[in-house]
Amino acid sequence: MPRYNPILDQLPTYPFVELDRRKAALLAEGRAVFDFAKGDPVEPTPDFIREAMLAAVEPSCPYPSVMGRNDVRDAIAAYLLRRFGVQVDPRTGILPTSGSKEAVFHAPLLVIDPQADDKVVLFPDPGYPAYERGALFAGGEAHPVPLDGDHVFRPWLLPPALLERCRLLWINSPHNPSGAVTHRDDLVRTVELCHKYDILLMSDETYVDLYAEGAEPPHSALEISQQGVVALHSLSKRSGMTGYRAGFLAGDPAVIARTKELRANPGLAPQDFVNAAAAVAWADDAHVAARRRLFDEKKRVLVHFFREQGWTFIGEEATIYLWLRVPGGGDDRAYAARLLEAGIVVSPGAMLGLTPAGAGWLRLAMVPTVAECAAAVAAWRALL
Ligand SMILES: Cc1ncc(COP(=O)(O)O)c(C=O)c1O
Repeated sequence: MPRYNPILDQLPTYPFVELDRRKAALLAEGRAVFDFAKGDPVEPTPDFIREAMLAAVEPSCPYPSVMGRNDVRDAIAAYLLRRFGVQVDPRTGILPTSGSKEAVFHAPLLVIDPQADDKVVLFPDPGYPAYERGALFAGGEAHPVPLDGDHVFRPWLLPPALLERCRLLWINSPHNPSGAVTHRDDLVRTVELCHKYDILLMSDETYVDLYAEGAEPPHSALEISQQGVVALHSLSKRSGMTGYRAGFLAGDPAVIARTKELRANPGLAPQDFVNAAAAVAWADDAHVAARRRLFDEKKRVLVHFFREQGWTFIGEEATIYLWLRVPGGGDDRAYAARLLEAGIVVSPGAMLGLTPAGAGWLRLAMVPTVAECAAAVAAWRALL
């Protein structure tokens, strides 16, 4: 019998596996399902992106390099300049990734020494599960920091003794699951803190282009500094490319050089034809504006209902999520189970956190169509 890594047994089933199971049970009963659980939008990938990928499938496809093709790094550098006014050298400051999840998961391998005392990885909680999982598999000490109130992560409030033992700090603005946005001044404080304690700052900016109409576009940590800072971006939600697996790391050339060295070991590199699609996607802003409008329209349907009911929620400002306090203040799992009776699938907040901070909240991902959002509201209303 093989002897397995004990971390595999310690971790609960990856949250979305459980949600997929529940959704499948409802569908098997022939029920109408409004799935707000998994953040995998269904709108088609724009044609010009699909065509760029197909055109790049050559008769012979050699191994891709870890750095990826020049055109994708040039397109990413141009995007960073256009969107944030940030100049990153496409030859030394950018690495394409196979989506951002693997990049999140693998990042701790770059800095964690399992034998050292300073092996803490800090991240906001509730939050994206791969922050914890990557830290654990790398032999680090995963340290979730509970969020509450406005759900903005303020790491400068953490005890110095903990910060001294930290090698990697994750921030995630706009934040999954709450949609909270860290404003520029708070990014400045976070960058200064990481400089002071020699902590690698990884800024997960997966949702940075998905903000409400009329809102100030969220900032990148790279606008503050590139020293010791790496930003992670993804085309999954921005361009409707979840299945392509395309993202990038950008920032401090010294960190990017070591990351390139690390990623050469498993050969972590997107296929050249995926990079060809990524290059045209990063070069275009019009389709992103259209997707922003669409998510906004869906949010408005739900927000109107939540306001009418007098419920507490956040997330209007950015991301594809709304973060709703359980109406009446009850248990999130119980409320989510009740919503299932109406065919509405949401993520109980407790499932998205390691500390109790997510308990009492529900996350809704703007995945159903606008019409389905309206139908879900009607079904929800009937349940009340
Ligand atoms: C905060 C955050 N980071 C990273 C990811 C990973 O995205 P992808 O691997 O699709 O690029 C997600 C996906 O939902 C996310 O919510």
